Amino acid sequence: AFNTLDDLADGQRVLVRVDLNSPVEDGVVQDNHRFDRYAETVRELADRDNKVVLMAHQGRPGRDDFVSLDQHAEILEEYVGKPINFVEDIYGDDAIDAIEALDAGEILLLENTRMADDELPEKAPEEHAKSDFVQTLSPYFDAFVNDAYSAAHRAHASTVGFALELPAYAGRVMEAEYEYNTGVAERARETEGQVTMVLGGNKSEDVISVVNNLGDAIDTFLIGGLPGELFLRAEGYPVGMDVGDMDLLDDQWEETKDTLEDLVENRRDEFELPTDFAYEDAADERAEIALADIEEKETGYLDIGHDTIESYVPIIEDSEAVFVKGAVGVFEDERFADGTVELIEAIGRTDCFSVVGGGDTARTLSMYGLSEDNYDHISIAGGAYLNALTGQELEAAEVLIEQAN
Ligand code: 3PG
Repeated sequence: AFNTLDDLADGQRVLVRVDLNSPVEDGVVQDNHRFDRYAETVRELADRDNKVVLMAHQGRPGRDDFVSLDQHAEILEEYVGKPINFVEDIYGDDAIDAIEALDAGEILLLENTRMADDELPEKAPEEHAKSDFVQTLSPYFDAFVNDAYSAAHRAHASTVGFALELPAYAGRVMEAEYEYNTGVAERARETEGQVTMVLGGNKSEDVISVVNNLGDAIDTFLIGGLPGELFLRAEGYPVGMDVGDMDLLDDQWEETKDTLEDLVENRRDEFELPTDFAYEDAADERAEIALADIEEKETGYLDIGHDTIESYVPIIEDSEAVFVKGAVGVFEDERFADGTVELIEAIGRTDCFSVVGGGDTARTLSMYGLSEDNYDHISIAGGAYLNALTGQELEAAEVLIEQAN
């Protein structure tokens, strides 16, 4: 196990890695669940009279979402309810000056860690610990808190390097996410009764990884989202050929076609596939079509249809445990949110053990006013959640555990 904030003394200089990586639209950072989750850790540390210095990343060099963290500071401030200072520097003189100027209970956010050359190369923790980034900042702190569970599958300087130089602790998000997500496979195997996984999202390779690694633990996969579209194609339906990012879909189809065809041929009874789906009609409205009525290549689906929802809900209601990996439709658009919202609502109504996760799926709850209290765990992680489900190591979490022993 790791050391947690319960083991950390108050009134210290604490360097905290969080994950505020967010969708960015036209240069504007979109508010999302990560902000309110991290606000709790940050507020706790500040209330305990620590000098709190936050590190986070945004996007990747060369991509449109690779922007400064100045907007993140403003959004986070709203949730924390205390001022968040921001410095446009990571470990240069300006950053050091700002760190030294902090009083107890004050909070500072450093600039996007991926703007530092030392950050991104995937290296062993020992190598990262020797970097200028880690060596320059460490002497200004008494402790390192890693709360960035959703970036824990990345061996970057800020996620693995500092843990070797400073006493290292897991933050509240790391603690909860690690416990619930790492335990999913085990929990599923131990559950007597129906174990169901809602499998959506927009990456078919993730689906194959989940199906192969968790297949023995899950009784029924309720398929939606892009995987649904690809599974239906594997069954021979001419679904979804002329909408959205076709290159992405076609590439994913080419890459996964053989595996999907093999799955529908040999493991068909594990999967519930959509029997109808929603698309955007000529009047920009939601329209639905049954599979049986598809004659030629139809507009690709944007949500599962209501017949499908009605057939999936009773399976959820009969389940002892339900895990969600990805949304079954484009829930960001209200017209195509029914499938995702109704399935997640059904999970909330049912007295089962439940974990909801996968990229941005957690956002469905805040967008559509669903109470978090109805679920055992809501994950704010994407890739890390998937790694945990499929039994792969999360290097940054492992480092914390090693350091605690
Ligand atoms: C995420 O948003 O899933 C994490 O922050 C990791 O981001 P990355 O995939 O750009 O490394």
